[in-house]
Amino acid sequence: MCGIVGYIGTQAATDILISGLERLEYRGYDSAGVATILEGNINCIKAKGKLYNLREKIERDVNPAQIGIGHTRWATHGKPEERNAHPHLDMEKRIAVVQNGIIENYQQIRDELKSKGYEFRSETDTEVIPNLIAEVLKTAEEDFLPRYARLLAAVQKTVNRLKGAFALAIICADYPEEIIAVRQQAPLAIGFGQGEFFCNSDVTALLPHTRAVLSLENGDIAKLTPLGVEIYNFAGDRISRFPRTLDWNPVQTEKQGFRHYMLKEIYEQPAVVRTCLDTYINPNWHADENPDFSPVNIGLSPITDDLEHIQILACGTSWHAALIGKYLLEQVAGIPTTVDYASEFRYSPKPIIPNTLTIGVTQSGETADTIAALESERARRAGLEPKFQAKLLAITNRAESSIAQICDRIIDTHAGIEIGVAATKTFVAQTMGFYFLSLDLAYRRQAIPNSRIEEIIEGLRHIPSQIETILDTQADAIEELAHDFATETEDFIFIGRGINFPIALEGALKLKEISYIHAEAYPAGEMKHGPIALLDNKVPVVAVAMPGSVYEKVISNAQEAKARDARLIGVTTAMNATEAGHTFDDMLTVPEVDELISPILSIIPLQMLSYHIAAIKGLDVDQPRNLAKSVTVE
Ligand code: F6R
Repeated sequence: MCGIVGYIGTQAATDILISGLERLEYRGYDSAGVATILEGNINCIKAKGKLYNLREKIERDVNPAQIGIGHTRWATHGKPEERNAHPHLDMEKRIAVVQNGIIENYQQIRDELKSKGYEFRSETDTEVIPNLIAEVLKTAEEDFLPRYARLLAAVQKTVNRLKGAFALAIICADYPEEIIAVRQQAPLAIGFGQGEFFCNSDVTALLPHTRAVLSLENGDIAKLTPLGVEIYNFAGDRISRFPRTLDWNPVQTEKQGFRHYMLKEIYEQPAVVRTCLDTYINPNWHADENPDFSPVNIGLSPITDDLEHIQILACGTSWHAALIGKYLLEQVAGIPTTVDYASEFRYSPKPIIPNTLTIGVTQSGETADTIAALESERARRAGLEPKFQAKLLAITNRAESSIAQICDRIIDTHAGIEIGVAATKTFVAQTMGFYFLSLDLAYRRQAIPNSRIEEIIEGLRHIPSQIETILDTQADAIEELAHDFATETEDFIFIGRGINFPIALEGALKLKEISYIHAEAYPAGEMKHGPIALLDNKVPVVAVAMPGSVYEKVISNAQEAKARDARLIGVTTAMNATEAGHTFDDMLTVPEVDELISPILSIIPLQMLSYHIAAIKGLDVDQPRNLAKSVTVE
């Protein structure tokens, strides 16, 4: 999704802007641009496609400007062409604006400005902003505003006219010592250096420069000058906010020798699960000592006390983690749970049930739909009697993100930053979050015996080394198998049941998003009700067949597919391999595991299979076409 950078200080701005944009590349984009102020004029350079196109153009036109803004664009209004790339300038080319978000009432403003003689060069919603600022600035002198306050005041008047969710960075050639940054429901952070200040859509991109960061809040307008940062609200009142220090290591955002970030992140999963276990599992809890404290140090009381119902809101891969969460919360903790796509829930919320916990799951912490769904849930329950009021919990790896700001509590999954657009380690970590939540609730509600809780925890403790086993023993075989599907296969079907149905969904999503092979997932028992008509010898079927309550059922459903000539690939346990070998043409094996925790293992070979198919096809694994890591528009 669109990314914003800004710099004001003593160094050459363009280099800093470009390296900031490079750190935003992972979010997905189709064009880019920068604008600086040099010798009293705006110098704006844009290019379609990858950042190296922009860099090439800039290298022909190096300039020493010390103030500038930049942008990576993910097209919403208007095609990914250079004329639609940001920054956008006003008609007189004195003001440059970059925007992430959508201005819903842009057409009305555009018509109004056109009637005053303004001309537009692009099809974007953003271009109305510099022109509206220019129009407002015309009256600044008449308003008797001192010079230093004029740009800020004009931006303030302008943003009060805009409807939608947006973040902005603005420079003006007539005010060459200030950047104005605005946040209204789209993320924007400010970095504090020594006599220099940065802004960026993603705090992680600030890490090479500074760890002192301030995530703006909705309705904040920041004025960055070489002397410091002032924050105002949309009404023009000055407000105080204080930066905090990030404890992240910039090395986390490097590839560390792996060919792709996605592969690196797949290999980080054992460490992620270990960190989760060390953080949340109480080592002193033993079932046979009748402990009077929870096995999980999750500290979610009181928002999880007396629950009658849980509703989970998420999108994409996070929605798949939510489906595993539902299974656990119902089967382990015994609490009725619903899962909705956040984008659907926003416009068709469920009837209000008392004592409901609402959980938002997100790896970016910024997904516009998920945030809006949670906010609308808070709003519609506000003012009702206490048992109906919203209790919001976020499950995320981004403790500094917008979702963390709007929820009452978070489960920080400690997965760290994920750069590959296809979610891998964050999915596993979100799933771990649901194990912890359901074990805590199961203990506090005595929904299952303590001995069973201990058994599940023991199983979870083995997960990191079991993932390592899969990565150590299966990688070559999976890569070899991937060759069979890299050239001619156009469709894949994934099937699974029970707690492994979401793994079928996630396996299919991983494959389609990075290899562009069409893939669908079905509950194995549903195949015969329609999708089986799709099968022939050209459509491979991946069956997630983990031993347990539905194993035989999945095998029978897989046999039905085999009878239609489909090539069958089974994900099953190594001990089962001989027997399962009669059914499957190929097998992706994982270590022996309790069915209840098997999804954390069964997903690993599917991530690897998708990765290798895409890598063999020579595709851009980390930045698949049309996708964005942080989906900040509706
Ligand atoms: C797929 C993927 C997406 C995201 C979805 C929601 O690999 O990453 O499907 O899961 O866009 O994003 P978050 O989790 O940031 O809310």
